[in-house]
Amino acid sequence: MGQILKVLKGTKDILPQDINMWQFVEEKANKVFSSFGVKEIRTPIIEVTELFSRGVGDTTDIVNKEMYTFEKSERSITLRPENTAGVVRSYIENGMHRLPAPVKLWYHGPMFRYERPQAGRQRQFHQVGVEMFGIKQPAADAEIILMATDFLKSVGLNDLEVEINSLGCPKCRADFKEKLKAVIKPYLNNLCEDCQNRYEKNPLRLLDCKVPECQAIYAKKEIQEVIMSDFLCDECREHYKELKLYLDNLGIKYNENKLLVRGLDYYTRTVFEIKSNNLGSQNAVCGGGRYDNLVEQLGGEPTPAIGFAMGMERLISLLPQKESKKLDGYIVSNDSQEAFKLAQELRAHGLNIEFDLANKKFTKQLEKASKVANYALILGEDEIKSNQVSVKNLATGEQKAINREDCKNIEV
Ligand code: HAM
Repeated sequence: MGQILKVLKGTKDILPQDINMWQFVEEKANKVFSSFGVKEIRTPIIEVTELFSRGVGDTTDIVNKEMYTFEKSERSITLRPENTAGVVRSYIENGMHRLPAPVKLWYHGPMFRYERPQAGRQRQFHQVGVEMFGIKQPAADAEIILMATDFLKSVGLNDLEVEINSLGCPKCRADFKEKLKAVIKPYLNNLCEDCQNRYEKNPLRLLDCKVPECQAIYAKKEIQEVIMSDFLCDECREHYKELKLYLDNLGIKYNENKLLVRGLDYYTRTVFEIKSNNLGSQNAVCGGGRYDNLVEQLGGEPTPAIGFAMGMERLISLLPQKESKKLDGYIVSNDSQEAFKLAQELRAHGLNIEFDLANKKFTKQLEKASKVANYALILGEDEIKSNQVSVKNLATGEQKAINREDCKNIEV
């Protein structure tokens, strides 16, 4: 006997008994996003590595530590760690800037990050997300956040916390970064290794550090004063103010969190996350924000854009389990030729039907029916002769003979 092979660490099978939750979430996504005029896009899971080093940013953990990268025919290829960069590539490559703005796209599918697996964190996980191109006004930010909260409501999650922040534009952010670096400099040697690396390359990410010693340093008065200061330029401040006004008028509750900086480099102005207290340390269900420079950075026309992505495993873990659906009918018969015929007639009417393929005894077939179906459709010799079917409701035990052609109307 060969050795049993196991699923890779950090990856999971999604088994038939759980698939209805996934289908439920995917159907809701299609319904809610379509109601906002968003069209689905499916891009490849593999892309050239450069897309992510240039798109997500080569100072990020994702690009530095977490990508699954391999060579094929002398090209460096990467399993997508996220899908914003891929959607932007496709937007540019397919000339979507020629379409009337906004271009709104949604997607769902697997992403890959070589992270330390833990509750809520896998190496292959799934995201459902939306990207909107071509609108610089804050109404787009409001619509994106509304879409995320409406979708979460549609699956039954009403009480999640929305956090927002503005990271400003490269201009005003540059001043902020310098000020931040200046107040942190005296403590540089006491910071963790990651923070020491981030200090030069990406000082905003310092605020995101989870190491208690670093957090204690960043809690110091002089550093907090810089963090809490309003560094936004007039345009960025106005954009942020208008977004908040929209959210207030839409009745979307939010907290402002100055420490919300996000782990990807492409963001400008608005960033947001939606969190749940029921998720433990990996508590973000949704992350998103504006990325007004990314399309140009990846070779396209300058195009403002904003979007979000949600972790589907985290989302589904917050939902109550749904019973998997039973078959509409299970045909109980010793005549498999007739059973095939009846099954096909009923399947053609949209019913989900199975029958015994292994010549099992009648009683065994009935037992099976009661486990897997709502109705047993009994097709014995008498029924075949009289062109009838005895329909047994397996919930109530009630049974009656009906004409074969009425079988398609069994209540389901
Ligand atoms: P992100 O914050 O890296 O953003 O990921 C979004 C969501 O994906 C997270 O909030 C989390 O729910 C889920 N997620 C991330 N990593 C894992 C993991 N290892 N295991 C399980 N779930 C995970 C992005 O990916 C951006 N592309 C979002 C975006 C779209 N921004 C603008 N448009």
